[in-house]
Amino acid sequence: MKTMSYGLLKGKKGIIFGALDEKSIAWKAAERCHEEGAEFILSNAPVALRMGELNKLAEKTGSEVVGADATSMEDLTALFDRAQEKYGKIDFILHSIGMSVNVRKGIHYTEMDYNFLNKGWDISAVSFHKVMKAAWDKDIMNEWGSILALSYIAAQRSFPDYNDMADNKAYLESITRSFGYFWGKDKNVRVNTISQSPTPTTAGQGVKGFSGFLKFADEMSPLGNATADDCANYIVSMFSDLTKKVTMQNLFNDGGYSTTGVSEKVAERFT
Ligand SMILES: NC(=O)c1ccc[n+]([C@@H]2O[C@H](COP(=O)([O-])OP(=O)(O)OC[C@H]3O[C@@H](n4cnc5c(N)ncnc54)[C@H](O)[C@@H]3O)[C@@H](O)[C@H]2O)c1
Repeated sequence: MKTMSYGLLKGKKGIIFGALDEKSIAWKAAERCHEEGAEFILSNAPVALRMGELNKLAEKTGSEVVGADATSMEDLTALFDRAQEKYGKIDFILHSIGMSVNVRKGIHYTEMDYNFLNKGWDISAVSFHKVMKAAWDKDIMNEWGSILALSYIAAQRSFPDYNDMADNKAYLESITRSFGYFWGKDKNVRVNTISQSPTPTTAGQGVKGFSGFLKFADEMSPLGNATADDCANYIVSMFSDLTKKVTMQNLFNDGGYSTTGVSEKVAERFT
């Protein structure tokens, strides 16, 4: 069903990181933000841009694409220079970036390669600090702007196959609180993470046993898994003026999974 447009982001400008293909959470978010009247720059790592998919989204949403490796302060500074040139100030940033080399290579948590850990940590967690630092130094955010990243409940609870991404997400959520404090106090800008249900995207499907896990989460959640489209709607609300005082939070968009001990559907399998 098509979601109605309410003009919630009319006149707002921003940067959306991490749309890889049409399954990406950031892709759906960009489509919804566009429908709600926002203008934005789309950014992704140079290697992702080479796929060419992002140009389709850029065309559809009337956006410019600017490549940046989110671990490179140099790339990020150039991106924010471009955003400043184009918009002056901006109102929102979506960080929808994650990657673990240990997960990709199927290396067990107990056998972790620490160079791979460092790389994944930089891409999945520290890059959020770097993005906010680049924005901070440019003083590019309008008052009452909104900065968001995406997280997963493995930051709070153990999910064996999520590997070092669990630790990266815990760090990401901590950065959200630590930097969020200063953004709030000095700039009246809010910083949050949305903790999303398992979602069949390129990053999601890289996790071992993903399809069984997706089904398990769905059956455990009273409202069922939140889809990428559900997440896009939540992102719109977090970028809108309706959520001005929500900050330094990890917000679950998970159909009730995080506070369900067991569902009847799952329990029935054991009777
Ligand atoms: N899919 C899920 O089950 C799920 C659940 C909860 C949270 N998340 C989070 O949602 C976010 C988006 O992931 P997704 O599921 O849409 O998958 P995705 O694979 O579509 O998106 C991940 C993005 O990260 C980008 N990226 C990787 N390295 C980068 C770098 N060095 N610089 C800039 N960008 C880089 C990729 O190019 C890609 O666009 C991630 O933070 C992910 O951990 C996903």
